[in-house]
Amino acid sequence: MESQVGESGSVNVDGTRLEELTPQPLLTRDYETRPSLVYERLRRQHGPVAPVDLLGVPAWLVLGYREALQVLQDDDAWPKGLENWRARTEGEVPADWPLGPSLEVNHVLIQGGPGYGSLRTAWDAALKPFQDPGHPQAKRLKAAVTAYADDLITLVGQGGGTGVADLSAQFSRPLPLMVASHLLGFPGSQGDDALMDMWRVLDAGPDAEPALERLLATLAELAAVKLKEPGDDFPSHLLAAHPDLSLDELARELFMLLGMTSDHVGILMSNTVVEVISGDGDGAARASLSAGMIRETMNRVVMRKPPLVNFVPRFAAQDTPLGNYTIRAGDPVWVSSSAAHADPLFAGHVAASSTISTRAHLSWGAGRRQCPARELASTVAAVGVGRLFERFSHLDLALPADQLPWRSSPFMRGLRSLPVRYQLAAPPERAPAPRPTPDTAPESADPVLPDRSARQRSSLWRYLTGLIRGPR
Ligand code: HEM
Repeated sequence: MESQVGESGSVNVDGTRLEELTPQPLLTRDYETRPSLVYERLRRQHGPVAPVDLLGVPAWLVLGYREALQVLQDDDAWPKGLENWRARTEGEVPADWPLGPSLEVNHVLIQGGPGYGSLRTAWDAALKPFQDPGHPQAKRLKAAVTAYADDLITLVGQGGGTGVADLSAQFSRPLPLMVASHLLGFPGSQGDDALMDMWRVLDAGPDAEPALERLLATLAELAAVKLKEPGDDFPSHLLAAHPDLSLDELARELFMLLGMTSDHVGILMSNTVVEVISGDGDGAARASLSAGMIRETMNRVVMRKPPLVNFVPRFAAQDTPLGNYTIRAGDPVWVSSSAAHADPLFAGHVAASSTISTRAHLSWGAGRRQCPARELASTVAAVGVGRLFERFSHLDLALPADQLPWRSSPFMRGLRSLPVRYQLAAPPERAPAPRPTPDTAPESADPVLPDRSARQRSSLWRYLTGLIRGPR
């Protein structure tokens, strides 16, 4: 029998397989309300790597900062790709496992194997025009985000110069959806309505399944259009960089972009608003925002509250010791950025009250599979949050910070709603949104921004108008 004494000094390890450890369920009510306590309990009990039960399926959760880096930085030893999952190959993952649908769509985030390298290179190339600050497309995107944000704030203000609003439903969710529509190159605001189906999918309610079917059909149609008539947009750039992609594959990549943009970026914006107005983190976020250091604010928030708390699984390529256990070949390993950030090895070096944070955090991943859209996501979130704090002279939480409702998700940590009391800085009529300048104007005939009157007829706008609440 193998025996190890780990860092916690408490765990004896023998050859027991993950399946035989009868791990405790991770996703409990406790996890939803106080995930940090759950991580600490697991750390005390098991050390930096703990066996957990993910909705009926056993997995290893990586809680240690050093161990997380070890996994993330060695793609050969810990590859992604569900084909590497022993229990799945042996038919032990139930067909109706609730996490199945989000992991079984084979796109760049999930995929391992030989096709991954060229797909990732194509993603990097396709995102470049939107992320390279000197590129006209990046300038157009920034101008568009500013204008979308102003339109949404003006709409909130139709409830009065002071009032209450749900900044999640009325701002943080729709803004990235409009951005996704821009990236995908939907003509006008036509994409907004179709893309609202993404919310139904993410909310996993009873209408999620038909919404997913409609959405994939819409994205497949869009992919076909872009194949025939390429434009200056993400699908066309991805196709140019990877001409071998089938329509079906392209549609899956677009689905991935849409999910990441509309969910993660929205969560980052809401978390930033909470952090700034509730003074979480000893007011350092507000201090850095007031000092005009919006990028620094963003970095602090993404580090303190990573939107993606548990990454998609990797699998041990061979039996490998990690933490206090030996992980068997084909065992699934989930890195938790959130738990790793609470590891004293990391947390001990980050002063909560400092205005300057560290870049050594894992919120964008690490190693070759790190997020390729970090610049884009930070820009969109920074512009959005910047407009909020400029156009509202006053923003207060309408609920105590510890009573804000969190969504329960094994991957994400985001708010279900963000109720605020606001006061507009300017009269509620339209503040001048920076319209495209010659620098930001498109070279082609494509409008930078969708036609406002078309947008106002869209079902997205009708939905948002229905959310406007009167003054209180
Ligand atoms: C606040 C927003 C975002 C956060 C916090 C975030 C975070 C992350 C993290 C942690 C990973 C690594 C996951 C892992 O290792 O398993 C990742 C991967 C990825 N992200 Fe993001 N992301 C964000 C926005 C976006 C957006 C807007 C896009 C697309 C436009 C995007 C595209 C991707 C892709 C394609 C990957 C997979 C990379 C690979 O496996 O090679 N992300 N992201």
